[in-house]
Amino acid sequence: MPAILDDISAEILDLKKQIGATILAHYYQDGDVQALADITGDSLKLAREATHVDSPVIVFCGVLFMAETAKMLNPAKTVLLPDLQAGCSLVDACPADKLDRYQEMLRINGRQFQTVCYINSSAKVKALSDWVVTSGNAEDVVRNKVPPGYEILFVPDKHLGRYLQEVTGREMILWDGSCMVHEIFSVGDLLKMKKQHPTAKTIAHPECPKNILDLADYVGGTEAMIKHVGGYAAPTTFLVATEPNMMWQLQQRFPQHTYLGVPGITCACNNCPHMARNTLEKIRDCMRTGRPEITWQPEFDKAKDVLARSLLNPPKSELVHPHGD
Ligand code: 13P
Ligand code: SF4
Repeated sequence: MPAILDDISAEILDLKKQIGATILAHYYQDGDVQALADITGDSLKLAREATHVDSPVIVFCGVLFMAETAKMLNPAKTVLLPDLQAGCSLVDACPADKLDRYQEMLRINGRQFQTVCYINSSAKVKALSDWVVTSGNAEDVVRNKVPPGYEILFVPDKHLGRYLQEVTGREMILWDGSCMVHEIFSVGDLLKMKKQHPTAKTIAHPECPKNILDLADYVGGTEAMIKHVGGYAAPTTFLVATEPNMMWQLQQRFPQHTYLGVPGITCACNNCPHMARNTLEKIRDCMRTGRPEITWQPEFDKAKDVLARSLLNPPKSELVHPHGD
């Protein structure tokens, strides 16, 4: 790491003690950021771990919906997000007013359905949903929590929804949203890589379209990928179809393997531009100033209950928000 970044990292560790902070980082953050974090994880692990943090401040290195989730599950804590503009194309694909109208139309037509939303959604969308899922618990929720006899309206990721239909056999009404990163892996390049590395194993995130998943040896969310790769003892080459910072985490844990990122159709690196907004400088600055902070929004009142019953096991029976009503 260049000396200047070393200095910033040292300052962050110092500030952590001063303000009483725990740093959580998603596997899609830069390696420098993951290296600094107290806890790294996928969306599900980070949401659950946030409920066990005992410091007053959580610095969330991820995107807005993740930091909002941490706040909703821990109303009394200060949650800082280094860059408030760190959004997500899936969140943008599903405006709450549009979902509200669509649900109303289904009800008017007499359809019996439950809404399952991917955690990559706004708090307003979560508040309109029956269940919130991540790639880590989606199959379980669809199989075991949505009562039989109900149709499922799955929002906003059409690719994850399609994959869930395939593995669970449950018919779904799919929203037309997608992840701007996973949507654009190049099938042509993956086929070339498979030819060049005939013994390599391809691992892919279920946010990828079917044409990529059909070429994968293993499909799973980021935590599941780690577990899967951990099952290989002998040095193996993996072709990785997910955000490339994931390979930093895999390399740390299982350095005996070789990891090759599948390129995107427009850009060989295919990094998530939203995750990339959280630089070391911004992490330091948010800890210096206490801003940007995730503040309580009216829709959090309802969304937090949907989150708790969907993700926490056993659910926190009562999450009291700071206004106490
Ligand atoms: P997971 O880490 O939960 O698999 O999520 C992937 C993702 O795209 C997060 O934005
Ligand atoms: Fe959203 Fe995709 Fe970035 Fe994850 S990788 S934050 S799903 S745009």
